[in-house]
Amino acid sequence: MPEALSSRERMRRACLGERVDRPPVWLMRQAGRYLPEYREIRQRVGFLELCRDPDLAAEVSLQPHRRFGVDAVVIFSDILLPLAGLGLALDFRPGPIVENPIAGPADLARLEGSVAEAIAPTCEAIRRAKRALGPDVPVLGFAGAPWTLAAYASETRLSRDLDRLTSLAWREPAFVERLLERMATIAAETLRAQIEAGADVLQIFDTWAGVLAPSRFRRFAGHALAQTIAALPRERPPLVVYARGAGHLLEDLARLGADVVSIDWRTDLGDAAERVGVRVSLQGNLDPAALGAPEDEIRAEVSRMLDLGRKARGHVANLGHGVLQHTPIDGVRAFVEAVQGTARA
Ligand code: CP3
Repeated sequence: MPEALSSRERMRRACLGERVDRPPVWLMRQAGRYLPEYREIRQRVGFLELCRDPDLAAEVSLQPHRRFGVDAVVIFSDILLPLAGLGLALDFRPGPIVENPIAGPADLARLEGSVAEAIAPTCEAIRRAKRALGPDVPVLGFAGAPWTLAAYASETRLSRDLDRLTSLAWREPAFVERLLERMATIAAETLRAQIEAGADVLQIFDTWAGVLAPSRFRRFAGHALAQTIAALPRERPPLVVYARGAGHLLEDLARLGADVVSIDWRTDLGDAAERVGVRVSLQGNLDPAALGAPEDEIRAEVSRMLDLGRKARGHVANLGHGVLQHTPIDGVRAFVEAVQGTARA
């Protein structure tokens, strides 16, 4: 067993299915409102303003690493930031609101402008975070998947179960395919810029893929995801694809060309490992709400998760979705320590 891997090497190996000393651990939305030091900054600065300030974005990205020693630092930004730079009037109250949604083919022309410029602050935040962390801690960059970006872009406020986009895909499939094609280039440009800035790992969030039946996923979301991945350089950092509520799409997700599939808590990690085999590593998948449980229960859940994770080619310990706003800090600490084996008995 290799000893004393750096977090960066541990993360790389787990993603590619090579041997590790223990699984790496980080949490989706690890920088956020459950942290008092984040709330303190947010009292002074709006959310988009924070995303667009490289110093503050780097600082907020580093907060969870300082507090918990997680094995990866996800850069503080938002999947919708590129769209905000492309003529979409985007605001967060606190969920995303788009005042001028892309409702039909004529609106597509509005998605003009430079993605690289829109996310330049994020790329600068990556550089600053990397400078502060040194070579041993990986910085994770990310983008929204085409389907999830299209979901937010196509209506002012997301409808329940994504009724609007899923209906549109039946009524006007050619338009939805064009919209997804555009979003696929936006996602790929976002990731390419972050690779150039030095991102060590990449994640694509397809939060809304799970509403689709497998055949619809393949035609729309999956097709566009594969386009995004194909547009990345051949030599690229390890790539994770996250989809929420997508247990029924697992085999499809494993065939996209990503290195890791990130699953939510509704899918059994052991079953998932059997289904994907050695094709991909797995990331996840504790229920975010479980971090509110007594700490010995969190440790027991982590132990169960790690046991199941051993069946996978490689395992990156994480939650099944982002940290919830009212999560106790001690619950997050217990989760990280339990994975890292430093939990007190
Ligand atoms: O993970 C991290 O710590 C990095 C930062 C990050 C944020 N959003 C910060 C954020 C990441 C990786 C995202 C991704 C994201 N953004 C997704 C995909 C992952 C997921 O959660 O499913 C989606 C769908 C979005 C769009 C988005 N941004 C929504 C739906 C919301 C509102 C939700 C909420 O919690 O209120 C946001 C706002 C947002 N993005 C916040 C944070 C910390 C809360 C903003 C605040 O401080 O008020």
